[in-house]
Amino acid sequence: MKKLNLPAQAGQPQAEKPKPENAGRRSFLGKLGLGALIAGFLGQSYALLRALVPNVLYEPPSRFKVGSPDQFPAGMTFLEDRRLFIGREQEGLYAISATCTHLGCTVKMVNLSQPRKVQLRGKQVEISREFHCPCHGSKYYGDGTNYAGPAPKPLTWYKLETAAEDGQLVVDLSQPVGRDFRLKV
Ligand code: FES
Repeated sequence: MKKLNLPAQAGQPQAEKPKPENAGRRSFLGKLGLGALIAGFLGQSYALLRALVPNVLYEPPSRFKVGSPDQFPAGMTFLEDRRLFIGREQEGLYAISATCTHLGCTVKMVNLSQPRKVQLRGKQVEISREFHCPCHGSKYYGDGTNYAGPAPKPLTWYKLETAAEDGQLVVDLSQPVGRDFRLKV
């Protein structure tokens, strides 16, 4: 049946036409709601995927190469990035940690203006350098023996060896050694 568009009769309420500004507001709120929904979904998805990936702690390797032996002249060479001193004497090479045994600051090497005689492990020896910690004043003799300040023990010595494939020096932080260790090269 054909529907006739009859004019509204007097006294009858007319259907209200949506105002254009109301329509715009509704559309904006709709988009805002959709955006929030998508953001919530993405957040949940990320949290779910992240929970499936294990937390892995990447630690630097404890065994690493520091260069060929001829890069280390007589005396002490400081490897800042490794916080290590590589020493060379007639008897051979050795590695001493630059990490203070008090709270872990990096110690500084100090060349003495005059050699000094000290008692080390029951023997009188002449030393020409020391290590001083700038944080709380700990002092160590040249072989790492602590003698002043709050440091509770000597600086750690680490095993040194040469790599079979290319002859480079390898430091092994997992293997502390005695202060009489020397690598002959
Ligand atoms: S960290 Fe070296 S003396 Fe405290």
